[in-house]
Amino acid sequence: MKLLIFDRVRLRLSLNYLAVISLMLLVFAVGVRILFDRILHQKIIDRLSVVAENAIDNVELDEDRLMFDRELTDRHRMNLSIPVLSPEDNLELFDFKGNQLSKLGKLDADLPLSFQNFQQVRSGDPRFQYVTLPLVENKTNRTVGYLRASHSLAAIDASLHKLDLGLIGGIGLTLLFSSGGAIWLTTQAMKPAEDSFQQLQQFTADASHELRSPLMAIVSNTRVALKYPAGIRAGDIDKFQSIESAAMQMRRLTEDLLWLARNNGNADRSPTEIVDLGKILADAIDSHQAIADLKQIKIKCNVVENLLVLGDELQLQRVLTNLIENAIFYNRIGGSIEIEIQRSRRSILVRIEDTGIGIATEHLPKIFDRFWRADTSRIQWEGGSGLGLAIVKDIITRHHGRIEVTSHKNLGSCFTIQLPISDLNNV
Ligand SMILES: Nc1ncnc2c1ncn2[C@@H]1O[C@H](COP(=O)(O)OP(=O)(O)OP(=O)(O)O)[C@@H](O)[C@H]1O
Ligand SMILES: [Mg+2]
Repeated sequence: MKLLIFDRVRLRLSLNYLAVISLMLLVFAVGVRILFDRILHQKIIDRLSVVAENAIDNVELDEDRLMFDRELTDRHRMNLSIPVLSPEDNLELFDFKGNQLSKLGKLDADLPLSFQNFQQVRSGDPRFQYVTLPLVENKTNRTVGYLRASHSLAAIDASLHKLDLGLIGGIGLTLLFSSGGAIWLTTQAMKPAEDSFQQLQQFTADASHELRSPLMAIVSNTRVALKYPAGIRAGDIDKFQSIESAAMQMRRLTEDLLWLARNNGNADRSPTEIVDLGKILADAIDSHQAIADLKQIKIKCNVVENLLVLGDELQLQRVLTNLIENAIFYNRIGGSIEIEIQRSRRSILVRIEDTGIGIATEHLPKIFDRFWRADTSRIQWEGGSGLGLAIVKDIITRHHGRIEVTSHKNLGSCFTIQLPISDLNNV
């Protein structure tokens, strides 16, 4: 027997596990990326600083005008290698106002000189890294100009691109293996819980089943005794009636527990019968008319038959019976119930609205919990166990439907169920 609830928990655990792994991998990848970028950049900056410092000796100041010395310009003009400069480098000379005076190097790396940032980066393709050194005249100690060395970052960008691809590929592969691992791990972790849950369910089912016969024996014997009251002392009749009603209540409880233990979360079978929900509803109303009359409750209904859904007739009867019972038991004397069934494009809607005690807003999220009953309900009806709506919700979920409730304390409640339509409705 496969349990839906465990499948959901397994899926949620696996997804959480994958989310944590993804987050860790992302942080790791971003960290590696930033670190590599910084290291490679720093290497270029260090090298450009050395280039600029070495080139300072080749700068001359002639009548307030800065220029590269002859040796450097000659070598450059004759296309000879300059010891301080690689083909990826540029060397520029600026006056103290930031006007470019001369440039050595073939790369197109123009960028206005910045007096604030001596380690500029120019974006674009390729990017460029610049390192600027101020040229200070020894005698007067004044800045007479600037020497700027630059280098294309194309090689670094290519390396970083490869690193990005490697990281993305690595993360993708790791996540693929991790998903397999996550499914295996969560299955292993859930197995003991799943086993003990199934044992508990089996125990509940067995216990409820075993309790059925003795309870039926109590009920039938009490009924026989009550049928011939002559043999009972007059004061004991009440006691026999209480025994019968308590035994009936327990019987109902064991039936509900048995149903929940056998069906709850069981994903094996989906309902496949085609049933007429309108007819089930009409029958359920008929069979409750007498109890409603006892409480002088008026049932106004607008029920049409031949509204087909894919479902299990007994289970749907149980749903409608419980909702109608609730609308009667938790109603006031002389109140009313409005029941309607209608077909929308994709579903069939059943609405059961009463003028009863209502449910406080803070209690609404709890009403589908097992054994939950509002304190006020015990005064209205002692026979309930609080399992009815839990069973209703379970059945509706198994039918791929939805149940909604709106309620106002002391004014009334409205339960709406929505079940997917069967294709035969369109025939
Ligand atoms: N129409 C309603 N009006 C007011 N309260 C309601 C209504 N329907 C349900 N409730 C509240 O929700 C609780 C749970 O309902 P549920 O049908 O699950 O159990 P129950 O009616 O107490 O017992 P049983 O298991 O026999 O149906 C009720 O005890 C009651 O407090
Ligand atoms: Mg009920």
